[in-house]
Amino acid sequence: MACNRHFLWTLLAACLFVGTPAQASEPSERVTSLVEEMTTEEKLGQLVQAAGGRSKNLNSKLTPEELDRVRRGEVGSYLHVAGAAPLAELQRVAVEESRLGIPLLFAMDVVHGYQTIFPVPLAMAATWEPEVWRHAARVSAVEATAAGLHWTFAPMVDIARDARWGRIVEGAGPDPFLSARMAEAQVQGYQGTSLADADTLMAATKHFGAYGAALGGRDYGSADLSARTLWEVYLPPFEAAVRAGTGSMMTAFNDVSGAPVTGSEEYVDSILRDQWGWDGLVVSDWNAIAELINHGVASDRATAGALALRAGVDMDMTSGIFGGELKDAIDADPALLADLDRAVAHILTAKERLGLFDNPMAYHDLAREAELLMAPAHRDAAREAAVQSMVLLKNDGSLPLRPQPRERIAVIGALAADPMTQLGSWRAQGKAEDVVTLLDGIRQGVPDGVDVRYAKGADTGDIEPGDVREAVRLAKRSDHVVLVVGEDYDLSGEARSRSSVELPAAQRNLADAILATGKPVTVLLVTGRPVAVPELADKADAILLTWMLGVEAGPALADVLFGEVSPGGKLPVSFPRATGQLPFTYDKLPSGRPAEPNLERDTNRYIDLPITPLYPFGHGLSYSLFDYGDVVMSAPSVGADGVVTVSVPVTNTGSQAADEVVQLYLRDPVSRVSRPVQQLRGFQRITLQPGETQTVAFDVQPAQMAVWYPDGWLIEAGEIEVMVGSSSTDIRGRASFDVVSTSTSVQSAASIPTGVRVSER
Ligand code: BGC
Repeated sequence: MACNRHFLWTLLAACLFVGTPAQASEPSERVTSLVEEMTTEEKLGQLVQAAGGRSKNLNSKLTPEELDRVRRGEVGSYLHVAGAAPLAELQRVAVEESRLGIPLLFAMDVVHGYQTIFPVPLAMAATWEPEVWRHAARVSAVEATAAGLHWTFAPMVDIARDARWGRIVEGAGPDPFLSARMAEAQVQGYQGTSLADADTLMAATKHFGAYGAALGGRDYGSADLSARTLWEVYLPPFEAAVRAGTGSMMTAFNDVSGAPVTGSEEYVDSILRDQWGWDGLVVSDWNAIAELINHGVASDRATAGALALRAGVDMDMTSGIFGGELKDAIDADPALLADLDRAVAHILTAKERLGLFDNPMAYHDLAREAELLMAPAHRDAAREAAVQSMVLLKNDGSLPLRPQPRERIAVIGALAADPMTQLGSWRAQGKAEDVVTLLDGIRQGVPDGVDVRYAKGADTGDIEPGDVREAVRLAKRSDHVVLVVGEDYDLSGEARSRSSVELPAAQRNLADAILATGKPVTVLLVTGRPVAVPELADKADAILLTWMLGVEAGPALADVLFGEVSPGGKLPVSFPRATGQLPFTYDKLPSGRPAEPNLERDTNRYIDLPITPLYPFGHGLSYSLFDYGDVVMSAPSVGADGVVTVSVPVTNTGSQAADEVVQLYLRDPVSRVSRPVQQLRGFQRITLQPGETQTVAFDVQPAQMAVWYPDGWLIEAGEIEVMVGSSSTDIRGRASFDVVSTSTSVQSAASIPTGVRVSER
């Protein structure tokens, strides 16, 4: 989209659109008068979030001395606590025995389920169905609030473009549009329609900044980013969460281009408050305020506290500085008192929105807790989510498995029988004994008369190649082999970055030995990150990506493996051929010498790898086939503030009911700055019966292709190319439209949702 340079700058100068903040609401009268009544010590106490235990040892620190701290008003919130009864006592002390009776906030990382554990978040993103996430978050909130919790440290919306980063498992992957949709769905699910209801959980969208951009994928590392990439790629999911009403945000541990976010006014205050007009609660990450000293931006704890408070951080997760040395900083600089009042007001407002002043004991109904944890309907939801999140990466026709009576299936690999891995790295109160493993699922789901035998081949945690002879013998004696390999739960997650995304040696050795038997092998790939598995892609008959599926892993797998349900998940992230291909994203800039397969030409590629990923973004096969009709545009052109509709009919031409995810990609081919070759701007998962056609219509706004400039978002005039398809590389139809005027936008392009309508024919 070419645009007139002079016009552009005149327009930018005229609009000052960054200065168009939404209006943050003022604190209520109750909050204002409470803040007036509080001593400085009581205010500081509200800013303290203390650990009531460790994540795996909840409540262990709730000693009588801790109750005394609560009586003295020295704590505003606890994390790593749970249970309607123990937390009731803590809350009772706060509201009945502290001077001002301010209720406590109880928090936990309820990331993909409380006790009913759902698939890990990256797998949830593979559903391409925000409704599934919304419902999972609702179920999580119902369980967690029944167990006394008010607040979850979720959704995690960090964009992850380097699969070496272990925390890629916790979010929706590399794409800002997909991540934004998953972010808002989770906020809506956790928070319900009114935070004041006793079954709603306040969301903490995390980790604000660009935590996922850590260099080399090493956790906690620096993000060295252009401002355009920050605004166009990393921030949109946070903005979507703000617009969905997230009650709180957590700041990231790391720095963005040298500014540690937890101590940076430029990020926290200026973006969240001034630009987005958001008035929720900001909590630091664990000990992150003290770590400002390690970052080298504060010489001592008091200065670190002052930096964080001034930046706009309201609550201190566990460093102890806000409840300790910050007082010295305030005594030295009374101007900080205004920041203190602002922080307290945010915290009290959060408590008020949760209904805790009016009904502090609403979250402590023991009968509700007993009834709701692991309720059958919750398990059903977890199974449905698990079914929808599996991705069929390869199939030569051997799936679904249709074993005949007296045939033998060998299930090989320790991950098949490992319940812990199905729970993922954040498991809240998930329990291994509640998990139906993949092996159990196969045993329960197999047709009568089929013999299922198991051999583990190697331990999940084995680093050295183990003894695989028994597994090979079993494979040779069997009619079908289901080989379960990948990474266990402890290889992804926080502080679990790997220098290699190839399979661990023992898993690879096992896979090589089984594939060498020449038996038909279906691989179940268990993982929390994209792994580089070219040897599996080459030799296996079929590969089903099962991620880590939660408590209903086994039954969900059986539904898909034996053909009850066709797989319909799609990759939310490209799978690389080798670690050296990282970071790999489909939405790259074109380069002056775009990559070409022909090595005779000097282009943007490695000479020792093909130019494509092993499996591209958006990829996922089905047991059925889909035919895409012509892409129809509602108009050839649109004004900058208008809407243009892109429609496409899709028909199931196979013989089984199946889901397809229809994907819309856009490109701005000519602009003042180089623009990505494709950007996801719409998707819709549909279920089609054999022979059925549905037409999917996407309502696109030109603001969704706005370009970020230092002064704001610019909607340029010119052509936009349209691509509709079954994956980012399987494009089935193309069209284009012209944007005939220029305008500005106040919202990041990728955070704007696309209206979608589906009609049957
Ligand atoms: C993680 C956060 C988490 C917090 C509390 C930190 O180490 O980075 O994501 O919410 O701990 O458990």
